[in-house]
Amino acid sequence: MTINQSQTNPSVNAINNSDALQRIRIFDTTLRDGEQSPGATLAPEQKIILARQLAKLGVDIIEPGFPISSPGDFAAVQQISRELHNVEIVGFARAMKVDIDAAVRATADAARRRLHLFISSSDIHLDFQLKKTREQVMQIAREMVAYGKQFVDEIEFSPMDASRSGREFVIEMVEAVIAEGATVINLPDTLGYAMPEEYEEMFRSVRRQARGGDKVVFSAHCHNDLGLAVANSLAAIRGGATQVEVTVNGIGERAGNCSLEELVMAIETRKSAIGVQTGIVTSEIYETSRMVSRAMNFPIAYNKPIVGRNAFQHESGIHQDGLLKNRNTFEIMDPEAMGIPRSMIVLGKHSGRHAIKHRLNEFGITLNEEQLVDVYNRFIAKADELKLVPDNELIRLASESTDMQHDPYSLVHLQVMAGTNESRIASVTIRERDSQEDSNFTGTGKGPLEAVIHCIQQAIPEAGEFEDLELHSLSTGEDARGEAIVSIVHNNVRYRGTAIHNDIILAAAQAYVAACNQQLLSGQTSDAKQGA
Ligand code: KIV
Ligand code: ZN
Repeated sequence: MTINQSQTNPSVNAINNSDALQRIRIFDTTLRDGEQSPGATLAPEQKIILARQLAKLGVDIIEPGFPISSPGDFAAVQQISRELHNVEIVGFARAMKVDIDAAVRATADAARRRLHLFISSSDIHLDFQLKKTREQVMQIAREMVAYGKQFVDEIEFSPMDASRSGREFVIEMVEAVIAEGATVINLPDTLGYAMPEEYEEMFRSVRRQARGGDKVVFSAHCHNDLGLAVANSLAAIRGGATQVEVTVNGIGERAGNCSLEELVMAIETRKSAIGVQTGIVTSEIYETSRMVSRAMNFPIAYNKPIVGRNAFQHESGIHQDGLLKNRNTFEIMDPEAMGIPRSMIVLGKHSGRHAIKHRLNEFGITLNEEQLVDVYNRFIAKADELKLVPDNELIRLASESTDMQHDPYSLVHLQVMAGTNESRIASVTIRERDSQEDSNFTGTGKGPLEAVIHCIQQAIPEAGEFEDLELHSLSTGEDARGEAIVSIVHNNVRYRGTAIHNDIILAAAQAYVAACNQQLLSGQTSDAKQGA
């Protein structure tokens, strides 16, 4: 049985014909507003790589930087304009001639381009920051739009802090810039202050009341200070916005911007309730999120919707039981449709025997009833100690209980030379379960961990792609213990090995071997099934 959305929410009138849905244009500002997040600065080459990925993700518009701000940003915007022809490129500028000139030059080679001008419209910004009257600001807005229009047809204008500005002044300003040639009006909630009803109403009233409002595109730009950026963007769509400005992972000033993946997946998952669609290629979401997180050195919160590590993981026994019977019981989206490797059940003290049995079966380990009871009792004791019991620990408990080694490989010996020399050298001895033979491997790397990883890659060549290594300090002081978690991905399934030790290099090596063992054990299951 499959569940459709009208079954999960019967009040929803299903709109099944996607041709009937309004297309919302996704304006990505990860590389401009996102980069304004403290510590997230990108080198020009990184921007170019990320822009390519954003184009692959299917965003309609990319704002790659602020050309006047630095030669590096100018070069990045220029290179992206030259290279990416299927996406509109935005030159961002204050309402000032020098900024406009730089933005115009940087985007000169774009197949499709737009100039994005902004100036504040709230009294608090005018009085304390710009120290200008409304009349002066209005004059600048008008003149600068007219100036930019000489060079570029598509002009987006943003009255900054629009949601905290006098409504009549915003309407007056919007009317004036439309008269000068603005084609897109963005009404930013710069401080993340608006409530959804207010933001929706602002779009409705400015669109209706500003002369020319029916001839331009309206855009939402929401910050997340009160956690309302996605809700406000959806409210703006209800109020008539057909463009939404977003960033990958919701990165941006302070608490960030409206998150691309959250907005897109809300629209996708509740299409019939929201009644719009985007052109985003959802299968690229996870890869894009990881690339942005890595390039910006910005970790993703475990519980972040869509792309957080826990977003599709389930620990409670009741949820796990439901999921094993039918995924729709406790999941509203298919993580694999977003390119997220599957690893939905994590085992902890709330997990039941059913989930443990199922997980061991996935690794080709079958237990009789008596063995299962024994493993379960050991597991519960371990769960009290560790909170979450990693798969390699569960396999070890099953080995203890059945008196049989399951892991195909074990780490027997590790030696690393680290220090001031150019490269670090590691040597590793690995024992193979079936032959009980030991083999030695040596490897080098820029750091001791890399050297160890190179050794293990030689020892277990069938291992999946090394995805990630996390290191956590579990205590403080000289004898602090470290936890290493290594993730590898094989056939779009992620295997995660965990180990704890005072020696963090040894913990990382054990965790890596554990992840490889999990992959090989589950591979044995599918081979056996195929054979059968
Ligand atoms: O948050 C904001 O107001 C902005 C504009 C300048 C578009 O980023
Ligand atoms: Zn912003």
